[in-house]
Parts: sequence; C-alpha cells; structure tokens
Amino acid sequence: MGYSSASIQLVLLITLSGMLSPKTIQLGLCSADHNVGCIDIERKALLKLKQGLTDPSNRLSSWVGEDCCKWSGVGCNNITRHINRLDLRNRYSNGLDGDGAAEHAFAFGGEINPSLLVLKDLVYLDLSMNDFGGGQLPSFIGSLEKLKYLNLSGASFGGIIPHNLGNLSRLLYLDISNDPLETDLQWLAMLFSLKYLNLEGVNLAMATSYWLPTVNMLPSLVELHLPFCRLSILPLTLPSINFTSLFVLDLSNNDFNSTIPPWLFNITELEMLDLTVNNLTGKLPDSLGYLKSLRYLHLSDNSFQGSIPKSIGNLTSLEEFYLGWNRMSGIIPESLWGLSSLVSLDIYGNTWEGPITESHFAKLGRLRKVSIGNNSPNISLVFNISSDWIPPFKLRFLYIRSCQLGPKFPTWLRNQTELTKVVLRNVRISDTIPDWFWQLDLQLDLLDVAYNQLSGRVPNSLRFSYSSTVDLTSNRFEGPLPLFSSNITWLYLRDNLFSGPIPHNIGQVMPNLTYLDISRNSLSGSIPLSFGNLSQLEFMFISNNHLSGEIPHFWNNVPLLFIVDMSDNSLSGTIPRSLGSLTFLLFLILPSNNFSGEVPSFTNCTFLTILDLGDNKFSGPILASIGESMSFLQILSFRSNSFTGSIPLKLCGLPTLHILDLSHNNLSGNIPHCIGNLRGLKSDYTYEDTEAYGYQGTLEVVSKGRVLVYDSILYLVNSVDLSNNNLSGGCLWG
Ligand SMILES: *[C@@H]1O[C@H](CO)[C@@H](O)[C@H](O)[C@H]1NC(C)=O
Ligand SMILES: *[C@@H]1O[C@H](CO)[C@@H](O)[C@H](O)[C@H]1NC(C)=O
Ligand SMILES: *[C@@H]1O[C@H](CO)[C@@H](O)[C@H](O)[C@H]1NC(C)=O
Ligand SMILES: *[C@@H]1O[C@H](CO)[C@@H](O)[C@H](O)[C@H]1NC(C)=O
Ligand SMILES: *[C@@H]1O[C@H](CO)[C@@H](O)[C@H](O)[C@H]1NC(C)=O
Ligand SMILES: *[C@@H]1O[C@H](CO)[C@@H](O)[C@H](O)[C@H]1NC(C)=O
Ligand SMILES: *[C@@H]1O[C@H](CO)[C@@H](O)[C@H](O)[C@H]1NC(C)=O
Ligand SMILES: *[C@@H]1O[C@H](CO)[C@@H](O)[C@H](O)[C@H]1NC(C)=O
Ligand SMILES: *[C@@H]1O[C@H](CO)[C@@H](O)[C@H](O)[C@H]1NC(C)=O
Ligand SMILES: *[C@@H]1O[C@H](CO)[C@@H](O)[C@H](O)[C@H]1NC(C)=O
Ligand SMILES: *[C@@H]1O[C@H](CO)[C@@H](O)[C@H](O)[C@H]1NC(C)=O
Ligand SMILES: *[C@@H]1O[C@H](CO)[C@@H](O)[C@H](O)[C@H]1NC(C)=O
Repeated sequence: MGYSSASIQLVLLITLSGMLSPKTIQLGLCSADHNVGCIDIERKALLKLKQGLTDPSNRLSSWVGEDCCKWSGVGCNNITRHINRLDLRNRYSNGLDGDGAAEHAFAFGGEINPSLLVLKDLVYLDLSMNDFGGGQLPSFIGSLEKLKYLNLSGASFGGIIPHNLGNLSRLLYLDISNDPLETDLQWLAMLFSLKYLNLEGVNLAMATSYWLPTVNMLPSLVELHLPFCRLSILPLTLPSINFTSLFVLDLSNNDFNSTIPPWLFNITELEMLDLTVNNLTGKLPDSLGYLKSLRYLHLSDNSFQGSIPKSIGNLTSLEEFYLGWNRMSGIIPESLWGLSSLVSLDIYGNTWEGPITESHFAKLGRLRKVSIGNNSPNISLVFNISSDWIPPFKLRFLYIRSCQLGPKFPTWLRNQTELTKVVLRNVRISDTIPDWFWQLDLQLDLLDVAYNQLSGRVPNSLRFSYSSTVDLTSNRFEGPLPLFSSNITWLYLRDNLFSGPIPHNIGQVMPNLTYLDISRNSLSGSIPLSFGNLSQLEFMFISNNHLSGEIPHFWNNVPLLFIVDMSDNSLSGTIPRSLGSLTFLLFLILPSNNFSGEVPSFTNCTFLTILDLGDNKFSGPILASIGESMSFLQILSFRSNSFTGSIPLKLCGLPTLHILDLSHNNLSGNIPHCIGNLRGLKSDYTYEDTEAYGYQGTLEVVSKGRVLVYDSILYLVNSVDLSNNNLSGGCLWG
C-alpha cells in the first residue's frame, strides 16, 4: 500500500535528521511531503474520521491545517511523528445543567470510520462520554494492536462486545463502563497485561457461571470494577489466585446471595473492597483481619448476620467502614473503636446493643461521618456520655436514630463547628435545645431532631445551605412557627405545640418550599395569601389546627401541588374554583371544617385519588363529572354534608373506587344498581392489580399526614356507605 512506503521514507528522514542541521531538516521534510510535523496518510485518516462523526458543538474545529499532531486531542510520538494518542473524551459531560442536554450538545456521535486503523501506533484511545446512540461497538478496534489504554466509558455503544477486543494483548487499561452492552467475556482471558478493568453496567449474565475463573486469568490486575453487571454467582472456591496484586475490587450492585467467599481474604494487598447492594448472607469471618491494607470496606445493603469480628481491629488503615442495612446484631467489638484512621463509620440499620461511651471515640480523631441506629422505634443502643466531654473529632455528618442519647441535649455538639447534617431522631431527648446550639456558626443542609421530647421556642438563627431539610416532627416545641431561611425546601413541623398565626410572610421567606407539614399544632388565624409565592410546593399539610376564615385564591400560583390536607380546622366559605386548576393533585382532604356551598367541578384534576369532603356543610348535587374525569379515584367521601339530588350513574364508571361514603346527606332517588359493579369494590380485585398497588405507594408517601389516619391497610378495604339519606332501592349485590 502506498502510504506505508511513504511513511517509511518519512521515518527514515526523521531518524536521520538528528545528524543534520535544523535548516536541512526543514528542507528535507518539505521536499518529501509538504508536511512539517505529521504523517500525511494519518492526517487524511483523521479527516475521514472527522467526516464520519457528528460534532454539534464543533469540538473538532482545530482539525484543519497540515500539522495534525497539533490538532486538539491528537498526540504524536515526538521522534517517529506517528499518531499514538487520540483523546476524544467529552469533558463537558458532568451535568452543566443536570438533565444531560449539555452533555449531548458536546457529544460526538455518528460512526467511527475504519480509517482509524491507519493509526498503527495508537496506544491511547479515549472516546468516553460521547453518544454513539446505542450503535454496535466497531469490531475493528480490536485490530489496534498497540493499544494500551482504551476508554469507551459512557459512549453509548450497544449490543455485544466484539470478541476481537481479545486481540488487544498489550492493553493495560480497559474501561467500557456504563454502556448498554453485553458480553460472554470469552475474549477477556487474552488480555493478560490488563491492570485496570471496568465493565460497570455491562450485562454479564451470560458469563455468570465462569466470570471469576475468566478474570482470574489476568495476573496483573490491580483494579477490577464489575458493579451492576447482573452477576448472580460469587464462587466460594477458587483453586489458586492469579490476581494477587489486586488493590481495588468493586462487585457492588449484583445479585450475589451466598456467603462471603474465603478466597477474598487471600488478596492481602486489597485497598478497597465494595460488595454493597447484594444479598450476601452469613457471618463476616474472622479472616477479614487479613486484609490489612484495606482503606475502604463497603458492605452495606446485604443480609450479613452476627456481630462484627474482633479482627476488624487489624485493619489499621481503614478509612471508610460501611455496614449499614444488614442484619447484624450484638455488641460492637472494642477493636473497632481502635481504628484511628476511620473517617466514615456507617453501621446504621442493624440492631446493636450495649452502651457506647465517650472512651469508645477517644482514638477516632479523624472521624467526619458517623451513622448509627436503625429505623425501628425500638431502642437497644445506649450512649453513656458525660456532659463535659470534648470529642476528639470534628464531625460533618452526624446521624443517630433510635438510640438512647438523652435525656439531656448532647452538650458535646458545642465543639462540632463543621457540621452540615445533624440527625438526632428518636433518641429520647427530653430537654430544651440550648441557645448555644441555635447560635453555632453552622451551615446545615439537614437538621432532623424529630420524635423526641424537645421543648422551648425555635429561633430562626441557624443558617442552611441550598435545598435543605428541617424536621422537628413530634416534639413539644412552642411559640410562633419558625420560618428559617429561603434555602429550606422540606419543612416538617408536624405534631408540636406551635401557636399563633401562620406568619403572613411564609411564602416570601421560604419561596422554595416543596414540602410543608405544619399539621397537628395549635395554629390559629387564616391561611396567608403568601402561600401563592410557594411556586414549588408539592405537599401541603395544615390539618389539625385552629385555622379559620376562607381559603384564599392563590391556587393558580402553586401548580405542582400533589397533596392538600386542610382537614380538622375551622375553615369556612366555598372551595375556590381555582383549586380545580391543580392538574397534578392526588389527594384533596378537607373534612371536618365548616365549608359550605356547592362543590366546583374538579374536571382538570384528572389524577385525583382521594377526594374527602366529609363533615362539612356542602350542599347542592353530586356532580356527575366526578365519574367522568377522575379515573384514578379510589376514595370518595362526601359524608355528613347537605348534598341533595340523586347519586349519579356515572360514579359507576370509576374503575378503582373502593371506598364510597355518601352517608348522612339528603340524597334521594334510587340507588343505582351499577354501584355493585364497581370494579374496585369486587372482592377478587386485590391490591396486586397495578392501579391499587400505586395507591399503596402513595399512602407511604403521605404517611406523615392525615392519610395515616386512614390506615395503611386501607387498600384492602372495600366499603360503600349510603346510609342516612332518603334513598330507595334494593340489594346491591343481588
Ligand atoms: C518526547 O516525548 C517524551 C515522552 O513522551 C517526553 O518526555 C519528551 O519531553 C518529549 N520530547 C520533546 C522534545 O518533546
Ligand atoms: C474513562 O473515562 C471516564 C469518563 O470520561 C473517566 O471517568 C474514567 O476515569 C476513565 N477511565 C480510566 C481508566 O481512565
Ligand atoms: C482478532 O480476533 C478475531 C476474533 O477473536 C480473530 O478471528 C482474528 O484472527 C484476530 N486477529 C488477529 C490479527 O489476531
Ligand atoms: C493465571 O494466569 C495465567 C496467565 O494468564 C494463566 O495461564 C493461568 O492459567 C492462570 N491461572 C489460573 C489458576 O487461572
Ligand atoms: C489462601 O491462603 C491460605 C492460607 O494462607 C491457603 O491455604 C489457601 O490455599 C489460599 N487460597 C487461595 C485460593 O489461594
Ligand atoms: C440464590 O439465588 C439463586 C438464583 O439466582 C437461587 O436459585 C438460590 O435459591 C438463591 N439462594 C438463596 C440462599 O437465597
Ligand atoms: C436476601 O436473602 C434473604 C435470605 O437469605 C431472603 O429472605 C431475602 O428475600 C433476599 N432478598 C432479596 C432482595 O433477594
Ligand atoms: C490480628 O492481629 C493480631 C495481633 O496482631 C493477630 O494475632 C491476629 O492473628 C490477627 N488476625 C487476623 C485475622 O489477621
Ligand atoms: C471545645 O469547647 C470548649 C468550650 O466552648 C472550649 O473551651 C474548647 O477549647 C473547645 N475545644 C476544642 C478542641 O475545640
Ligand atoms: C443558601 O445556600 C447557599 C449555598 O448553599 C449559601 O451560599 C447562601 O448563603 C444560603 N442562603 C441563606 C439565606 O442562608
Ligand atoms: C429557589 O430555587 C431556584 C432553583 O429552583 C434557585 O434558582 C433560586 O435561587 C432559589 N431561591 C432561593 C431564594 O433560594
Ligand atoms: C381547566 O383546563 C382548561 C384547559 O387547560 C382551562 O381552560 C380551564 O381554565 C381549567 N379550569 C380550571 C378550573 O382551572
């Protein structure tokens, strides 16, 4: 082929050039090829490659002119001038706008022209984070025999990984993570130089029975990443270990359900071990202590049982120990508290017992994150810490839940000036929060002291960072409702003793609220108009207070509302028509107020699932439109009002309705026979049907509001109550 002889000539010239004067070199090169720094045939190959690619943001604008070694992303050997490096990574991919649009705007797409094969000396090829639209990974990449580094991560290649990749026997780094690919791994064993292998997200289900012996053919492996690979078998035995120099092993997010295999503990160099999100069972063996080099041990979200082995104390380099969400129990061994390198300790979601004293933390001076406790209401772990303790650490993240930490508020927080998350939930504190805490110079993004016996007033002095959560649920806080800062998006103040009016400027002070729960307090006065500033509001719980007056007209300004619960107040007047503009509304819960007048048609609220207007003074007819527009309705209660007229036949068209309560009204006429045909009411209609299952999920979402009162097994309840009306008609199911 023509180009090879041309490039041989050129190489000769360049090799000789070392003996010539600069002037002669220039002359020589020019006369040979009209080309200063790059080999023409390779330059042409790049141009062909460019032609095949789509390049919406013109990242290849520098690919013009003669010296292709100067083109962006191109690297040449500085003696032979052959191209040896092609870095076409999309570096604009890390969420400029979070929705991937920016990523896409800078991504190459189209096709990889086989002209790439002209670049025979290519050792480095990075196409990561581009978007080849799920197209087949070209098999000719396997012919780039000199490749040492190949990165196709997140490049959206799809289909089956071509076996030709097995020809890349010099490859040191192979990253094919996060592409929608699958493979049987047959080609892998040939890559015996491989130091780094990342197949995150590649479907290896085909190889699940032999992936380990295959990977074990790679003696030089230092890092192995196989998370999200749909592997279900983690063999318990391995005759001998080839990858003895493995530093990083990430097998998280697979489907392993065996015990932890003994051979793992022979890889004594291991730096990091990640087995999170599998379903591994059994005890953690004592041999864990052999992994003396471990810095990161991530075992969360499995089904490990028993206690932590004492040998954990041998892992003296351990910085992160994640054991959350397992079935571990017992006393935490003393040896754990000697791990002075620990930065993050997460043993949450297990049932530990025994006391934890300040001496336990004496050596943990580097600790930044700690997460202890569980989400059951039962308390088995007791903190026994004196009020004058000064901790050796400065925490950023403190998460203690369902432990006995009180009854006093922990004074040792006084020295914790770097906290960003504070969770002391259900920790049996019966105390006021001291002034010094509210005045700490902190910028928090999470404050959760729910389910204690905390009392006193709540000042607005703490600072919060963008998108923060404050949860003071179920305490004895009193005085005016605190407003905190504009950065709060989730605010839970339910079940306290807050009194006085809802501050009139609530909407101005916290315009970014998504979730507001101030139910079960002693708030009085009317609903402030500034609710209309809460344009992001999705959940609004103001039930069980002493609120009065009419509902103001701000509903057009809060279009995202899912749930509105204003029950058990003294609100009066009619329901504003604009409430019917809420197209995403799922629950509208207004019982036990003094509302009157006719009910507007909620024809735009097509997703409404619960409509409860019971125990009010509503009058007029029951609108047939309910039966037409709300095809997801599951609970409809108009009980104890003054509705008149007949029951519209259209109600029978509601396919998932299973609680219908129209009792205690002035309804007349015949009971429509078709009520008995309501599909939701039929006994063979179980909650496993998809619609009803969705309803169960919704109940969980709202478990902090009134819907709890409805009870979480409500999806199993079928009932029709039409009693105490002037209705006539026979047996429904006759
Ligand atoms: C040639 O490349 C080598 C290694 O890539 C580098 O260390 C050296 O500085 C380069 N020489 C010149 C003249 O650029
Ligand atoms: C491959 O590319 C991705 C995304 O650009 C990057 O995060 C990753 O570190 C690269 N892999 C290797 C081994 O360099
Ligand atoms: C590359 O791999 C394929 C498939 O594994 C094989 O058929 C072919 O002979 C190999 N080519 C070279 C040059 O080794
Ligand atoms: C170890 O690796 C070498 C080279 O890949 C291979 O020949 C050998 O079979 C491997 N040993 C095991 C037990 O897999
Ligand atoms: C692990 O180490 C033990 C003792 O050091 C040895 O008996 C065993 O053969 C090793 N297992 C493997 C798979 O290398
Ligand atoms: C583990 O999963 C496999 C299927 O992937 C199943 O056959 C086996 O019963 C499971 N074992 C246990 C202990 O759950
Ligand atoms: C995990 O395994 C346990 C038994 O070991 C089993 O009860 C549980 O259902 C499994 N969980 C999942 C998600 O497979
Ligand atoms: C842990 O260290 C102790 C003392 O150094 C040693 O006796 C013991 O064998 C080690 N255990 C393990 C499992 O490494
Ligand atoms: C902790 O707080 C006390 C009292 O505020 C102070 O005297 C002491 O210097 C602080 N210690 C540290 C380590 O910050
Ligand atoms: C809101 O948060 C940002 C950063 O998260 C911070 O810079 C700003 O000062 C905060 N605003 C308030 C009012 O606390
Ligand atoms: C509210 O959120 C938007 C983004 O949704 C942000 O741009 C704005 O700065 C936030 N406002 C306040 C006062 O935090
Ligand atoms: C319902 O939607 C229609 C069409 O978008 C709109 O014209 C009408 O005003 C809406 N009704 C209410 C009560 O918001």
